[in-house]
Amino acid sequence: MKPKIVIGNWKMNKSFDEAEDLICQIEDKLDEYNLETEVVLCPPMIYAELVTDHANDENSHFYAGMQNVSEFENGAYTGEVSAKMLADMDVAFCIVGHSERRKYFGETNAIVLNKMLRLLENDIVPVMCCGESLEERKSENHFNVVQKQIEESIYNLTPEQMERTMIAYEPIWAIGTGETATPAQAEEMLAFIRSLIEKKFGTEMAVNTYILYGGSCNAKNALELFSQQNVDGGLIGGASLKPDDFVKIIEAGETVLHEN
Ligand code: 13P
Repeated sequence: MKPKIVIGNWKMNKSFDEAEDLICQIEDKLDEYNLETEVVLCPPMIYAELVTDHANDENSHFYAGMQNVSEFENGAYTGEVSAKMLADMDVAFCIVGHSERRKYFGETNAIVLNKMLRLLENDIVPVMCCGESLEERKSENHFNVVQKQIEESIYNLTPEQMERTMIAYEPIWAIGTGETATPAQAEEMLAFIRSLIEKKFGTEMAVNTYILYGGSCNAKNALELFSQQNVDGGLIGGASLKPDDFVKIIEAGETVLHEN
């Protein structure tokens, strides 16, 4: 079994002082461990330097991530931040295609693909989010929806690019609602996503690709979710803002790794 990856997506939360405090608290708690689980913190972009400064410390236990990037290389795109700029700040990971960006900012699969390509050109790992709405699940369309999201983005990558890419399945009905997918539902969809990777890129790539679950993953349910064969870790929203809970989720990753 490969070590788990736990990514904290802070969304648009925390003042500068609170952000610094949260990073320091997580840092202090992780100091007690000899961690194999990889941890990524994705605060709001304005705190890029804060998080990369801490991540670059030689005793650091986490990587710096961001929540978004421009689909363009550079130029007259007011308000945008390029992948090259993130790379210059030592950002190592970046979430793309989060359902909130798809919903509120019109991010399509084509835009998600462009963003992934810009990140890969700059040696930043894209964490590509996919997932269905409640209506789509109720009408039993969830597999089709996720397949289309994967085919229209991931399927356009070269094998070399795919090797450096991660996927996060986040059912929209589970995000911030307290309603988690059951371990069986998460496992079923992650196994399906892995089969899609296998079909396009072969078995070795499918086995090696990190596929995470996100959506009301918390200190209580992380162990059971992470125990599923195809769940390689978690993309954590609300619980990543609470240092004790976030560290418990990371501990769940360690427990599963060492019990197997
Ligand atoms: P919650 O963990 O708050 O449900 O959010 C999940 C998420 O959207 C992470 O990207």
